[in-house]
Amino acid sequence: MSFKISRRAFAASAALVPVACTTPRSATSLGTPMAAAEQTIVNPLIENRADAQIFRHDDGFYYMTGSVPEYDRLVLRRARTIAGLADAEERVLWRHQETGPMSGFLWAPELHLVDGRWTMYFAAGPSGGGEDVFRIRTYAVVCDSSDPMSGNWSVLGEFKGPWDSFNLDSTIFYHNGTRYFAWAQREPGIETNSNIYIAPMATPLTLAAAPARLSVPELDWEIRGFKVNEAQAILQRNGRLFMTYSASATDDRYVLGLLTADADANIIDPAAWTKSPQPVFQTSVATSVYGPGHNSFTVDENGHDMLVYHGRDYKEIEGDPLFNPDRHTRVQRLYYDANGVPEFGIPVGNGPLPDRYAAPDRASVFLAHQGQTLMAGSAPLPNTQFRAWPQQGGAIRLSPILLRDRHLVAQADGSVTIGVAQRAGADMFRRIAGPQDGTVRIESLAYPGMALARSGSGIALADLGSGNTVWTVD
Ligand code: AHR
Repeated sequence: MSFKISRRAFAASAALVPVACTTPRSATSLGTPMAAAEQTIVNPLIENRADAQIFRHDDGFYYMTGSVPEYDRLVLRRARTIAGLADAEERVLWRHQETGPMSGFLWAPELHLVDGRWTMYFAAGPSGGGEDVFRIRTYAVVCDSSDPMSGNWSVLGEFKGPWDSFNLDSTIFYHNGTRYFAWAQREPGIETNSNIYIAPMATPLTLAAAPARLSVPELDWEIRGFKVNEAQAILQRNGRLFMTYSASATDDRYVLGLLTADADANIIDPAAWTKSPQPVFQTSVATSVYGPGHNSFTVDENGHDMLVYHGRDYKEIEGDPLFNPDRHTRVQRLYYDANGVPEFGIPVGNGPLPDRYAAPDRASVFLAHQGQTLMAGSAPLPNTQFRAWPQQGGAIRLSPILLRDRHLVAQADGSVTIGVAQRAGADMFRRIAGPQDGTVRIESLAYPGMALARSGSGIALADLGSGNTVWTVD
């Protein structure tokens, strides 16, 4: 089941959450009700924008670009917050030309500051019709101003790759003081649509060394529909380089794969990289997101790593998926396991970003569920993610992302179930600031003074003042 969230309707209801509620009698000594975040991120963040790149520049702005359904122009928007990108002004930087090699599709732009100049890389093809339109090559345009939103953009030229063949989805990253180009390309003699390459850069459009071929689509989940590895994105954390890439056809079979290398390895040596045997991110029927992919990474306003990707709300596509406009830009938290490896989980689905609630003194104990049963303990990431739907007067309803039409319900016997409230208001709660920063208590509005509490390995209502009602929000 998929349902669209009206961003304006959501913003209106969230706005009803008073900045500071009147302090309820039960909360006087226990903090005050939590106000809704000034800028709540609601997925999809930006509709009809695929291949999204979002990054936070040192000017404090978030910049966002991506493919438009018409593939005829390069666009850019910026905002002070990730959520603000949703309604930010979008500027057209450059349009495809009337004729020639850049007069057709414009794909997957990325904005980079290269040698102090704003440079947007993108893939483009001619508009000659037939198969010629897929004569896709990589180009760059540059800005004549330090402000990419107001400057004038002009063609810098074409990327000089190792072969004159289909190439796209370029990005730039830095490692040990060297600037690298990473891109996808069809290599003569290898029967795939595209493979993943990296090489050090000499100039903004030339390489300083022969490329290293890091990945060829060969596993079953990489060759569904088309043999594709593309859209690589690099994250450097915990002494390693994590390179995600997208694989297979751009319909519901589109997935993220992962290559990992030690940060101190010779990353230009393909042997330094290990490919995850399974995809790390893929279609989720439970949360109704299909074909998630072409990701980038950013950091939210609190310093948390964020996964940026596109995905559709539905599975069945009429016609060529490439010309379906409904690959929407989505973002969600990126977590890490105990070994510092990214935990991608699943696409969280439409609506406000979900949270995780952990026991302050036992980071591996979460508010979680197994099926329709709530629990306190360790569980797969998706089973620990709960979405807070804002209600009138600062109330919230809490819904597991895996059970979208179910909510937490307080019962008269002190238990808390997952389901549909039989008693009006039994599924209404309020988050109250906890005793330490980043902690909350979740008070039942049906049973004031009672809050969600850890009770052994289960969850029950307990007196608001008791210690097992404090949760760390993550
Ligand atoms: O969205 C257009 C192209 O389709 C992108 O460059 C590629 O990543 C995807 O397969």
